[in-house]
Amino acid sequence: MKRVIYTLVVLLGSALLTFAVITQAEEKPQTESALPAASMQAKDFSHLIGMHGFSDTLLNDHFKLYQGYVKNTNAILDRLDAMLSENRSRTVEYAELERRLSWEFDGMLLHEYYFENMGGKEPVDVKSALYKKIAEEFGTFDRWKEDFISTGSMRGIGWAVLYWEPRTGKLINTWVDEHDKGNIVAAKPILVMDVFEHAYMTDYRLDRAKYIEAFFKNIDWKTVQDRF
Ligand SMILES: [Fe+2]
Repeated sequence: MKRVIYTLVVLLGSALLTFAVITQAEEKPQTESALPAASMQAKDFSHLIGMHGFSDTLLNDHFKLYQGYVKNTNAILDRLDAMLSENRSRTVEYAELERRLSWEFDGMLLHEYYFENMGGKEPVDVKSALYKKIAEEFGTFDRWKEDFISTGSMRGIGWAVLYWEPRTGKLINTWVDEHDKGNIVAAKPILVMDVFEHAYMTDYRLDRAKYIEAFFKNIDWKTVQDRF
């Protein structure tokens, strides 16, 4: 009798286990991707060719690097979408791609802000709202400039960014390490300067100060002022 009861218990246990596995599988069906493939296009900045202080070689190489960020941002978004559809979102591969995403995405965006705020020939408009706000926050425009240049002169690879932070209403010069560490949450980039070595080594070797000088001579202040 004991053997019969034991056999029944084992059979019942197996049946429950099988049911649980099937139910779990049914609860997590594979989902079809409803999203289109990521298709951000690289913008064309070839109008900057010929800009004083920047050789064609440096600019063309820099455009190629930027295009790589656009390509990789699309590739990561597509891969994450595919892995989600394949029920592979709880894997280390998915986690590492998620970690990588902001590096590529911010790399793409910061380059766009950077190239877009170059190519200008006019000085800053002293009557603009931005100029007045800079003077209000930093005392004088030159004092702000000194702070921005000091930020961009820091050792390391990254960006100097003048941000406008809407909750506090403050203008802040900040260092962004690589592309994704140091950005201020929800703040708007107003002026962006690339200080990765690829931005200047071709023309200026290690002389970052000379590059920053050339950058300031080519700022498109109209674009910068309109961002504020
Ligand atoms: Fe760059």
